[in-house]
Amino acid sequence: MVGLPARGKSYIVKKLRRYLTWLQYETKIFNVGNLRRNTAQLIKNGTAPNNHSHSFFDPNNEYAKNVRDQLAMDSLDELIYWLKTGGRVGIHDATNSTIARRKKILERCQRENNFKVLFIESICDDKEVLESNMRLKLSGPDYKNVDPEEALDDFRRRVANYERAYETIGEEEEKTDVEYCKLINVGKKIIAHNIKGYLSGQCIFYLMNLNLIDRQIWLTRHGESADNVSGRIGRKFAACLSRFVHAQKMLFRQKQLENYREKIGSSTPPPEPPERNFLVWTSMLKRTIETVESLDPKEFDIMHIRFLNEIYAGRCEGKTYQEIEQSYPEEFNARKNNKLYYRYPGMGGESYLDVIHRVNPLIIELERMTDNILVVTHRVVLRIILAYFLDVEKEKVPDMDVPLHTLYCLQPKAYGNY
Ligand code: SIN
Repeated sequence: MVGLPARGKSYIVKKLRRYLTWLQYETKIFNVGNLRRNTAQLIKNGTAPNNHSHSFFDPNNEYAKNVRDQLAMDSLDELIYWLKTGGRVGIHDATNSTIARRKKILERCQRENNFKVLFIESICDDKEVLESNMRLKLSGPDYKNVDPEEALDDFRRRVANYERAYETIGEEEEKTDVEYCKLINVGKKIIAHNIKGYLSGQCIFYLMNLNLIDRQIWLTRHGESADNVSGRIGRKFAACLSRFVHAQKMLFRQKQLENYREKIGSSTPPPEPPERNFLVWTSMLKRTIETVESLDPKEFDIMHIRFLNEIYAGRCEGKTYQEIEQSYPEEFNARKNNKLYYRYPGMGGESYLDVIHRVNPLIIELERMTDNILVVTHRVVLRIILAYFLDVEKEKVPDMDVPLHTLYCLQPKAYGNY
């Protein structure tokens, strides 16, 4: 990472780690700030300088500068060791805000197994975003138990210190083979240079699609279908769902208007924000389509999408687990031993991993959109979507409990969490 403090680096890093991990690339963050804090805790004899205060980040403070450079390189060493021992993507979460520092990083990575480096620089001059990022820092580990005014003043001075030495990535570094991407104002503008790797391209595409708009993503499975019990339960769920979603839509609008009125105070009001669209997406299978049939298409934008279909069981499609055990005992055991990697036999049979890749464009779309949405899908697909948003460990995904007739509501929170 590259960028001044409070430019949303931690947001980007956390989102990227979650996304790449979900795509099954072992990904880990190496945060230099945490290393600094941990190191400070180890030196408790009082001789160590206070390495949280703004003066520690003064570019003319030679001693502190050397310590900061050393910490950054130590953290990079940890990252490199981790890549050498099986990790796939290491994220160096630091300011790396000078040409000299980035040169060192590149040299170090090339000296090792010629590890590929993508610099992601986050630039932000949107006053509102900066202000909210600054305030978020006050609840962070550097300013625990510090008076908020004092903390804000110290943090602003820290940023000013970084600004004095900051060098954005530019022409000089372009003379080398560097791959970089600049994200300006939360993806409003993107500059990508010399992007060669598949994964670099994927990361940039993902980051391009993020937004900070407050919205709701509702997720559920279809109503219990006639195959299981009787069609009655399914229809009852469909009717309840329709009333519930309508009420939630109204509630969201009411809160949106309340926030707007609070914000404008007594000044001349700008036009009211438009009401957010409410999309409804189902799979192409009858049981999800029926689940939304009580929703009014004039009120909701309803679409049926193949990506949301349940995992396809190939030759075992339409059979109960008991029937599979009887007809294909080897398949039954192979699945039981490794549900994540197991692929159903026969034409088109899928594994959990296949479904992750099928659902990937949908995750990007859910990140990109600013509308509210209800997704009605099936057990495996729901587990996979929830695994992304809730950062569920991959081993746990196939056993996640996702009961029928239950709705999940996801809303963006600080640092890209839900
Ligand atoms: C920090 O110590 O908080 C960040 C270190 C850096 O400048 O990269």
